[in-house]
Amino acid sequence: MTLPSDPNRVIVFDTTLRDGEQSPGCSMNLNEKLEIALALRDLGVDVIEAGFPIASPGDFESVCEIAKQVHGPIIAGLARCNPADIDRAADAVKHAARPRIHVFLATSAIHREFKLRMSREEILKRAVEGVKRARDRIEDIEFSPEDASRTELDFLAEVVERAVEAGATTLNIPDTVGYAVPEHYAAIIRHLKKHVRGIEKCVLSVHCHNDLGLAVANSLAALKEGARQVECTINGIGERAGNTALEEVVMAMRTRQDHYGLSTGINTRLLLPTSRKLSHATGMQVQRNKAIVGQNAFAHEAGIHQDGMLKNASTYEIMRPEDIGLSRTELVLGKHSGRHALRQKIVDLGYHLSDEQLNKVFDAFKVLADRKKDIYDADIEALAESQLQDTVKKIWTLQAFTCNAGTGTLPSASVALWRADGQILRDASLGDGPIDSVFKVIDRITGFSLKVVDYRVRAVTFGGDAQGEAFIEAEYDGKKHTARAVSTDIVEASAMAYLDLVNRVAARVDRDRLKPTDHVATDTVPGQAAAAKS
Ligand code: KIV
Ligand code: ZN
Repeated sequence: MTLPSDPNRVIVFDTTLRDGEQSPGCSMNLNEKLEIALALRDLGVDVIEAGFPIASPGDFESVCEIAKQVHGPIIAGLARCNPADIDRAADAVKHAARPRIHVFLATSAIHREFKLRMSREEILKRAVEGVKRARDRIEDIEFSPEDASRTELDFLAEVVERAVEAGATTLNIPDTVGYAVPEHYAAIIRHLKKHVRGIEKCVLSVHCHNDLGLAVANSLAALKEGARQVECTINGIGERAGNTALEEVVMAMRTRQDHYGLSTGINTRLLLPTSRKLSHATGMQVQRNKAIVGQNAFAHEAGIHQDGMLKNASTYEIMRPEDIGLSRTELVLGKHSGRHALRQKIVDLGYHLSDEQLNKVFDAFKVLADRKKDIYDADIEALAESQLQDTVKKIWTLQAFTCNAGTGTLPSASVALWRADGQILRDASLGDGPIDSVFKVIDRITGFSLKVVDYRVRAVTFGGDAQGEAFIEAEYDGKKHTARAVSTDIVEASAMAYLDLVNRVAARVDRDRLKPTDHVATDTVPGQAAAAKS
């Protein structure tokens, strides 16, 4: 890759779709990954690490699609230091105008002894072979000595030097287990800059985990020592306590330009929209008091603070809310807003929807406007998000439901589902609560039984008529699936999300299950069967 001509320009390498996505609770489907990749491009990141192609066919496909469809940033794919991984990564990223392979190999004594069972010599050989193989396929090669911060400094310098000789163009120094502290991490960078021959030809990169809450501080300390690529994720998602949060490290460099003298290519006004988009896609909410993008990050409650703010915002604010994309006034759409206003709003919120998807959002918007007086940005985001879920052909759709619950009564529900062949299926069940009862009826009608492992409901906006978003993660046959749905009625949102999961699972298994189970009442709706076939 070509080095930026400005020596103080930091390359932002985003690994939300790789290190972030592989962590629990953060999985995304292909549409969601593409949408996040487009958002990262709009945000101005320099490198998108799109996935780990050898990990699964789904990962391979998403890296290929991002490489084909997302133009501008470098698209990187991760590979262990072995031929199969490297070839798979090369095959995935080759579609990009600017592809990169990111090869990694653990170097610390603890990993050498217990994980790899390899000597120092074997590690050196493997690293050189891996970088060379990758370099035969792609010009831009990043090498990471995994667990670098716990590797003996002399050996780390040796591995890194060999990787440079073999053709690595970026050298990444991961603090894989979040063990480093700022002075220690800065000293590693200083040591490598001093002792590794040829290092000046490469970009030095930092990759920190947040186990001690120091990922951003460590990254900044390394940048101050001359590292010029920072690896990070939106909202800091990632393994265990997460990775360096992109929004935090970027705003620290910007707000304290006087101290660091560094710049990035990030359009900071898109930080909040991108953060919100990722929360929607993963169902993982940002903590209220999270720096930069948390709900409280710009809220002033104390009287003295409010007084100071009214006199001059800089008394208590070191950043302007608008600089991270927080607008004080949200344009509210309503019943009479037209298709054009909605389209503009969706574009402003950073979504890339097709005409067909926009039409569906418009229809849903009109239904919502009848149920709810004011429609906020978050409502529109929720409608747009629902278009990014997997587009599986639905076998069952919710026609109607009722449920009963209360102190001293047995919770129960009855549900009617439309089936793709035009039949309406009805059944009822008791359960542990109204939502459990609805799920049980859906199980009875469809013949599937999913194990719910995570279930969350949140208000999308505020006020008594706010939409509720239900997020469900469920397991079937050892495989996890996620779905979400929004409605002004949270039981309905939950039923729709659960049914969506059942449809996804059913799309993958045998069609015999389409035959009605004995206990289910059925009737046929004229016209539905024909519509279902079309
Ligand atoms: O944390 C780590 O070491 C990694 C490497 C693959 C760079 O994520
Ligand atoms: Zn990592």
